[in-house]
Amino acid sequence: MKAAVLHEVGGVPRYEEFPDPVPADGEVVIDVLAAAVENVDKAVAAGTHYASAKYLGVLPMIPVFDGIGTLPDGTVVGFGNPRLPYGALAEKTVVPAGSYAPIPEGIDPAIATVMASAITALTMKTAAGLQPGETVLVQGATGVAGRLAIQVARLLGAGRIVATGRDDSQLAELDADAVVNTAVSDEELQQAYADAGGYDVVLDFLWGRPTEILLRALTPDEFAFGAPTRIIQTGESAGADLVVPASALRTSGVEIFGAARNLTPESMGESYQQVVEWTRSGALTFQIDRVPLSDIASAWQRTSSRGRRVVVQP
Ligand SMILES: NC(=O)c1ccc[n+]([C@@H]2O[C@H](COP(=O)([O-])OP(=O)(O)OC[C@H]3O[C@@H](n4cnc5c(N)ncnc54)[C@H](OP(=O)(O)O)[C@@H]3O)[C@@H](O)[C@H]2O)c1
Repeated sequence: MKAAVLHEVGGVPRYEEFPDPVPADGEVVIDVLAAAVENVDKAVAAGTHYASAKYLGVLPMIPVFDGIGTLPDGTVVGFGNPRLPYGALAEKTVVPAGSYAPIPEGIDPAIATVMASAITALTMKTAAGLQPGETVLVQGATGVAGRLAIQVARLLGAGRIVATGRDDSQLAELDADAVVNTAVSDEELQQAYADAGGYDVVLDFLWGRPTEILLRALTPDEFAFGAPTRIIQTGESAGADLVVPASALRTSGVEIFGAARNLTPESMGESYQQVVEWTRSGALTFQIDRVPLSDIASAWQRTSSRGRRVVVQP
């Protein structure tokens, strides 16, 4: 079969022949229809992700660990957890039986690869309890997940949406009520956050420097009855770590939660159904670039998403 094969840590996957997977007992071969290339896949392949050691111990290997495909009986499923060295960037992959779930009818397989990012945006509701009329700040709003989050915030009835990014032309494309460009000095950024606030909910795909400066902007200089701001940690595009001064929690009204807060099989199922309904009705739109597997090398090396997800279709 044809596959995108990674030969060395930090390398670029090459389009080439790879032996077809042979299923062991309890495994199923899947014909891959679509797989999204995300930053996390590149980080794993670059050896900079905490999961890198597991995946890169079996080189040569096929990257990307979930996707959409068909079972031998023709059912279209979302799958995960392929048996290494097999991954989703190939014509076929192999997964443990049951490591998949059906994709509802009427959903394009390429779009289905991106639906997880919209489900993450729904943590505004599940983790932060967003109420209609509240103000939402999306950190990293020019990215794929951030642009979906803006749409989701609108659909959930947010009263005001503030969006951050590093590029004025991209920020201007967004359906936001105010924007903050984070590519400015620390002092200017702190002032910009303060000017565009207050925020009820922050969906944070950035972490690192911008969020540290946001915390400064949310911390009053002297004692005050701080309005609550619920920050949901969902990504780390700007940094994996954050210094949280004691005062940022003691006096500010800031609450920090992980995206998995309040997540249960039921709440996850409800979020999934909601995203399926919005997708089917066209209320939620996904920006994707469909790329043939043979073009994997150039697609892999793209440095800016400009809000569009690369979806590889064998
Ligand atoms: N928890 C989940 O289920 C989930 C789901 C989806 C995504 N994520 C995570 O969320 C993050 C964003 O994912 P994505 O797919 O939306 O990525 P993306 O399309 O590459 O967007 C990244 C965003 O972060 C900004 N950014 C990147 N580096 C930055 C830096 N050094 N300083 C300030 N801003 C920076 C980008 O700004 P520019 O537009 O200027 O480049 C853009 O707004 C990733 O950490 C991803 O793993 C998590």
